[in-house]
Amino acid sequence: HDLWLRYRPLPAAQADAARGHATQLVAGTASATQAVTRAELLRGLGGLLGHAPVPADAVSRDGAIVVGTPASSPLVAGLHLDLHDLGREGYLIRSVVLDGHPATVIAGNDDIGVLYGAFGLLRRLQTGQPIDRLDLRERPRVQLRVLDHWDNLDGSVERGYAGASIWDWWRLPDYLPPRYTDYARANASIGINGTVLNNVNADPLILSHAYLEKVAALAGVFRPYGIRVYLSVRFSAPIEVGGLKTADPLDPQVQRWWRGKADEIYRLIPDFGGFLVKANSEGQPGPQDYHRSHADGANMLAAALAPHGGVVMWRAFVYANKPGEDRIKQAYGEFKPLDGKFAANVLLQVKNGPLDFQPREPFNPLFGAMPKTQLMMEFQITKEYLGFATHLVYLGPLYQEALAADTMEHGKGSTVAKVVDGTLDGHALTGMAGVANIGADRDWCGSVFNQANWYVFGRLAWDPTLSARAIAEEWTRMTFGNDEAVVRPVVDMMMGSREAAVDYMTPLGLAHLMGHGHHYGPEPWDASGPRADWTPVYFHRADKGGIGFDRTASGSDAVAQYAPPVANEFASLRQIPDEYLLWFHHVPWSYRMRSGRTLWDELVRHYTQGVEDVARMRETWAGLKGHIDDERYRQVATFLAIQQREAQWWRDACIAYFQSINGLPLPAGYAPPA
Ligand code: GCU
Repeated sequence: HDLWLRYRPLPAAQADAARGHATQLVAGTASATQAVTRAELLRGLGGLLGHAPVPADAVSRDGAIVVGTPASSPLVAGLHLDLHDLGREGYLIRSVVLDGHPATVIAGNDDIGVLYGAFGLLRRLQTGQPIDRLDLRERPRVQLRVLDHWDNLDGSVERGYAGASIWDWWRLPDYLPPRYTDYARANASIGINGTVLNNVNADPLILSHAYLEKVAALAGVFRPYGIRVYLSVRFSAPIEVGGLKTADPLDPQVQRWWRGKADEIYRLIPDFGGFLVKANSEGQPGPQDYHRSHADGANMLAAALAPHGGVVMWRAFVYANKPGEDRIKQAYGEFKPLDGKFAANVLLQVKNGPLDFQPREPFNPLFGAMPKTQLMMEFQITKEYLGFATHLVYLGPLYQEALAADTMEHGKGSTVAKVVDGTLDGHALTGMAGVANIGADRDWCGSVFNQANWYVFGRLAWDPTLSARAIAEEWTRMTFGNDEAVVRPVVDMMMGSREAAVDYMTPLGLAHLMGHGHHYGPEPWDASGPRADWTPVYFHRADKGGIGFDRTASGSDAVAQYAPPVANEFASLRQIPDEYLLWFHHVPWSYRMRSGRTLWDELVRHYTQGVEDVARMRETWAGLKGHIDDERYRQVATFLAIQQREAQWWRDACIAYFQSINGLPLPAGYAPPA
């Protein structure tokens, strides 16, 4: 599978038109990045247009593509382009005249910007757009655009649904299969510039010299594509790998050990990105084990990396088993007091919502609450709570909803996107991480449509203001071609898919009704397991009288973690949007909704709607038979059949369970649970 880099021949008319603008390719090969840029253009244009442009040293005819930086290309230098605001990674694509010939220039300040520009030009062609009269300027709005692999050293992937890990630790560092290069190409094509290779629940062994050599080999493959390697580290590694008695961040021996380890890493990998840390969360060790703060821990690691230019991405996903306390309040409680206490090369990595990658959550209140801290976004691309690899759920709308949420930190327009891109509080070091959905499956992601989630993550990390629909359309054209009979229905199907999943799993602000541990099917009745805050009943709080988690002042008061205008909106039954109702309120089953229906009616209606939406997706897909190649057609058709069956399972199980609690009959016109 070539993902979205298929480069299948364009329709004749479009190919003919474009060929005249791709006659020659003037591109250097002095650096590794230049070489891969040139190779990608030859491969892409060759595939799309039927034959590749002729490599040349100078422009000698109309329609050349000229590629480079002012430093690498005298032709580019001679154009005196204004590149000053493009940074290192930005690019410009422009139709120009060179030596009397119309030509297209792809230019940047650095080789990597030019590579992104090459992918930008190819994307235009792949999505059926003309490449004459171009004047494009692009630069990423977010600095660190990172995939987090939850890959274990034994080859398994935590919450991975696409087969085993693609990292073949056993045969590294020697054997570097082409898959690694394709991975880098795919990432570079959407602007991803970092990868955390191993699980946040980190094996300390990753910091042993033998593994670091393997990591260095991967870094070598990724380097030409502008991708830096990062590692998840276990806070207690000084004990496990270093043989020390403690991992106390204020202990000079511990500090020395981490400095030495960082020096060792940078000797092997001069452009190493840094560390990702899950500490004092779900049983992981951390600074609190020594009565130190998250800031003490993060800053100690940051000090070890700082001389080399590395960063620490310290995760805010922390919660311990504190019976009686609302689990979602803990991170804010621990981190808000630390605002302004983190070193300059620390980012706090915050999940989009305060709970855990649910089909829908309100935005995480840490966004907008820590102006003096560099907050980066953590999205999940792998669909742990959204039907794993099988259910078709396009995550663009979920990401966009989170990024567009208004924190009101400095009044209206203080969106999460502006926190993340640093503009709201003037931060230069910014980032977005996505928990990868990549595995060794032939289709990389466990299904064709999951590839779109990798794609949309990268595109939104590059520019969080892009629209989920526009990105879905891009991906669809690149993946299935520009047949309009395919594009429109597929994009519509993708755009409705997330709401369908919310409806058949957890509508109206419900959350975490998934089976304990695996998080796949419905288990709203489950009250067992080692911890109350891992059970569905903890979250839905359904009883004879009503349902929902009271998080207003009369309950856990989690609303108070938001800025006052947001808190007031969420706390008010009159103002709260339906989609967050049961997240913040416990209301009677007979509660009158805006629609005029009772809550119970409305709940049944949403569950039923979700199933119907999946049925409609199936019909849409069936209508595309013959327009899509057989293999992909059949995979999606089969998965949609599974999804429909399971949507029905979700609906029936949840409705039957809630009926067992409230004793209410089904509203008129609805089929009883099977
Ligand atoms: C979820 C997930 C875990 C993961 C954790 C995390 O709880 O189920 O597998 O380790 O998130 O993000 O750290």
